[in-house]
Amino acid sequence: MSASFPAYRSRRKRQTAAVRALVQEVRLDVRDLIQPLFVTDGTGPPQSIDSMPGMYRYAPGGLVAECGRLVDLGIPAVAVFPQIEPGLKDGSGSHVHAADNLIYRAVRAVKQAYPQLWLIADVALDPYTDHGHDGVLTADGRDVDNDATIPVLQALGIRLAESGADWVAPSDMMDGRVGGLRTALDEAGHAGTGILAYAAKFASAYYGPFREAVGSSRAAGTTSLDKRTYQLNPANRREAVADALLDDQEGADALMVKPAGPYLDVLHALRRRTDLPLAAYQVSGEYAQIHAAAQLGWLDYASVRDESLLAIKRAGADMILTYFAAEWAEQQA
Ligand code: PBG
Repeated sequence: MSASFPAYRSRRKRQTAAVRALVQEVRLDVRDLIQPLFVTDGTGPPQSIDSMPGMYRYAPGGLVAECGRLVDLGIPAVAVFPQIEPGLKDGSGSHVHAADNLIYRAVRAVKQAYPQLWLIADVALDPYTDHGHDGVLTADGRDVDNDATIPVLQALGIRLAESGADWVAPSDMMDGRVGGLRTALDEAGHAGTGILAYAAKFASAYYGPFREAVGSSRAAGTTSLDKRTYQLNPANRREAVADALLDDQEGADALMVKPAGPYLDVLHALRRRTDLPLAAYQVSGEYAQIHAAAQLGWLDYASVRDESLLAIKRAGADMILTYFAAEWAEQQA
C-alpha cells in the first residue's frame, strides 16, 4: 500500500522529551562557557552598567570574590577587561608599561586566589589610548600604525603572562599579532602561555555596550569609533576565513569568531577549515538586545538566551564567551 504522504515520518523522533533528548545533536555545558568580567580601580562596590543588565565593573577585590562564585558554579574560564582611568591614557598606550597597571594587579590577584580558573586577558591598546583606537597612530594621525604597535603588544603580552594569564588574546584584528606574540612569549620564557586569537573579528555595531563599559566609546570630537581599517567588513566571509587561518599558521592555540550570533556562517565555515578549537564571543550588543526585548515583554528571556547559546554551539563553537555564563550555570544548578 502506498501512503499519500512520505513513509518516513520525521515527527516520530519528536514525540516525547525522552526521545528528543536521545536524538539531540549538541548540548550546552557549563564547561563550554567563559565569563567576560570588567575590572575598575579602587575599593568601591560593583558598578552596574546601564546597557548590560546584571553586569558590573568590579574593583579588584570584588573581582576576586566574583571569580570565587564562578568557580563554585563550575565555570572554567574568565576573560578580564580593564576600565583604565582616563588620566592614565595617552596616544601611545604607554600605561601598558606600568608595572602597577590595573590589569596586571587584577590578573595576579585572581590567579593567586583561584589558580584552577583559566584566565584570559586581551592584548590590544584600546583600554590605554586616549583616542580609543586599538593601536598607536601613524604620524599624520589618520590610521593605526600596524607594525609600530607590535612591540607594545609584545610587552603587554609578556607582562600579562608574568602576572598569571593563561591565554593572552590579541584582539585588535591587525596583522602579525599572533606570530609576534608567540615569538615574544617564547623568548621571555612563557612557552606555556597560550594564544586565543580574535581570528575573525568584525567591525560591528554590537560592541557598543562594551565600549561604554570600559570607556573606549569614542575618539575626541567624534560620535563613534570607526575601526574599519582593521576589523573585518561584515559582508566578507571568505576574507574572514582566510584571515583566521593566518592566525592558525602563526601559532594560535584557539581561534575566535566575534560577534557570534550574526556570524554563525563564518563560524561554520571556519570549523570546516581548521582543526584548532573554536571560540565564539557572544558580545555585549547581543546580550543587550535580548535583555531589552525581554524588558519590553516582547520575548521570553530565558528561552531566547538559551536558544542563542545553543545555536552558537551548533554552528561549531567549542567554547563560548558570553555574559550569560554565570546565570546559565546558576539556572542548571
Ligand atoms: C577590544 C575589545 C572589544 C570587545 C572585546 N575586546 C571592543 C572593540 O573592539 O571595540 C567587544 C566585546 C563586546 O562587545 O562584548 N579590542
